[in-house]
Amino acid sequence: PTIYAITPTYRRAVQKAELTRLSNTFRLVPSFHWIVVEDSNARTELVSRFLARSGLQYTHLYVPTPRRYKRPGMPRATEQRNAALGWLRTHRSPKDSGVVFFADDDNTYSVELFDEMRTTQRVSVWPVGLVGGRRYERPLVDKGRVVGWYTGWKANRPFPIDMAGFAVNLQVVLRSPRALFKRLGSKPGMQESDFLKQITRVDELEPRAANCTQVLVWHTRTEKVNLGNERWKDSVQIEV
Ligand code: UGA
Ligand code: MN
Repeated sequence: PTIYAITPTYRRAVQKAELTRLSNTFRLVPSFHWIVVEDSNARTELVSRFLARSGLQYTHLYVPTPRRYKRPGMPRATEQRNAALGWLRTHRSPKDSGVVFFADDDNTYSVELFDEMRTTQRVSVWPVGLVGGRRYERPLVDKGRVVGWYTGWKANRPFPIDMAGFAVNLQVVLRSPRALFKRLGSKPGMQESDFLKQITRVDELEPRAANCTQVLVWHTRTEKVNLGNERWKDSVQIEV
């Protein structure tokens, strides 16, 4: 199966650095298709050029987040992930085998993670490092089934798991055509649960990464860059 990694991304000083880090990992993954969705009114030149040079198989989409949703406390990248799901439902069919994964642009992914998720029958899960106010969060597994969760934050969520902690078989995405991310009524940290509730149950989750005992993805967050000395312009403007 092809791995479809869905990456929402938006313009900021560190964007190209983040995308570079991601693409260097993704180049090491066989049968990989990157769906990059810009949070913008149009495809930007920076991302267009970047993808064209990446050597990766990709689809480049864009959809702006409505301005009223661009504020702290609002879930992020809802429209972008839904645009990617819409693309898959339009351009892929029951004869295509694939696995869909939500790959935010600032996380850190090990190549092994993609080997683990490639065998996803319905929905697979694994630990995520550096998230939820702990060193990691993970599903608790007994006899091959998820029976609980080790989580530091909002433990009563139906699926207390970060976006980076699960993958979905493409056919599940196609067979549940109305399963989407929601913004209204979706509080921070609830997007994953709201989405997973629409497509699966806890007792059918497929544990990966040695019964969820290995961390193969980290919820890293990049420091906001200091541009306080950006007062004089260089005579040429170099893309950063
Ligand atoms: C956490 C989760 O890991 C995210 O999957 C979830 O979307 C997010 O919370 C949330 O609150 O909704 P966090 O590190 O706080 O992640 O969020 P970011 O990494 O800043 O954003 C998630 C993704 O959305 C990134 O790929 C980012 O590039 C993109 N994004 C962010 C946009 O497309 N537009 C924005 O205005 C902000
Ligand atoms: Mn993040």
